[in-house]
Amino acid sequence: MEDWTMIRIALLGAGSHSRYNHGPGLRAAAAKYPDLVELAAVCDLDADRAQAYAEDFGFRKVYTDVHQMIDQEHLDGIVAITPVPLTEQIACALLPYRIPLVIEKPPGPDSASTARIIEVADEYGTPHMVSLNRRFGPPRQRALQWLASQTDPRPVRLAVSRMLRFNRREPEFNTSTGIHIVDATLSLVGEPERVCACHLPSSTEGARLTQACVDFTNGNRAHIFLSPVVGNLEETYELHGEDYTVKIDDGAGSLQVWDHNQLVEEFTVPEDAEPAYRNGTFGEMEHFVLAVAGRADFTPDLRAARTSLMVAEAIDAGGEHDMRA
Ligand SMILES: NC(=O)c1ccc[n+]([C@@H]2O[C@H](COP(=O)([O-])OP(=O)(O)OC[C@H]3O[C@@H](n4cnc5c(N)ncnc54)[C@H](O)[C@@H]3O)[C@@H](O)[C@H]2O)c1
Repeated sequence: MEDWTMIRIALLGAGSHSRYNHGPGLRAAAAKYPDLVELAAVCDLDADRAQAYAEDFGFRKVYTDVHQMIDQEHLDGIVAITPVPLTEQIACALLPYRIPLVIEKPPGPDSASTARIIEVADEYGTPHMVSLNRRFGPPRQRALQWLASQTDPRPVRLAVSRMLRFNRREPEFNTSTGIHIVDATLSLVGEPERVCACHLPSSTEGARLTQACVDFTNGNRAHIFLSPVVGNLEETYELHGEDYTVKIDDGAGSLQVWDHNQLVEEFTVPEDAEPAYRNGTFGEMEHFVLAVAGRADFTPDLRAARTSLMVAEAIDAGGEHDMRA
């Protein structure tokens, strides 16, 4: 690692999600790569919040103005964890600096907003990631390793994905939170071609139980269930291919791989693991700093996130949608 130069990372937005996830994730990345990662600065409109965040997670300096921070800190990467209504405005203000950037999911309130952010990212050629942390969850990473270890390719043919919640009544549930399970599924199965979705009535005002079928250009299929008002919290994926089944349970942090009806791989996140390790944010922040250092790709990017958001929007709208249009 001695040929690596130190990279200076800043965090924008010291709110609740960032404090729970990205602060611990960046602190862990800095501890793992002390000769690579420097937590240079944190910026929040609320100076006290930024100061407490800096002290808790080990950032050197505190700002309340992001442009001032960028002018003074010679940054190599920015992680921006700001409210959805501000994402487009903030991303479009930061991308012209050409500093590698992470923005939160969903990347704007709708896919039209994401498209406008992509235009700016393209214009300036700024490397970026969208914080779809489920992609970096430990059980899923193990599943990907198992699939990659197979002598001959064993592609996923069918996915069955379930996101269950209780007492979630926000109307944007399917796109704002559901994007996680949609994105986690699409990124394992292929390019979406067609979405067919229906909503079951719920006695809870504004809440719906959603069933969707996604067909992919490679002939694969996914069934996705989104239920914000059922009895328990669950986020699971079953991936089926020729004679194998992969079962990922993001809530329990567990993985089982069955091959020819034999359990060949089993993994569970330790009970005392930090939540941000369990939900993939540790892996995501490590991936980002390695990408900034030129040792990984900036993925998932805005285009991938836009595709996932468009599928989530089609699911939310119900009916049939041609996703190639
Ligand atoms: N991945 C997930 O599972 C998940 C879960 C919850 C929230 N989120 C996302 O996290 C993001 C933040 O949500 P939250 O609940 O933490 O919000 P929050 O309101 O608690 O925090 C946002 C912070 O950003 C700061 N801020 C806003 N504009 C700023 C600016 N111009 N400069 C500096 N600071 C600024 C605010 O002062 C605040 O401290 C949202 O985009 C949300 O979608 C993701």
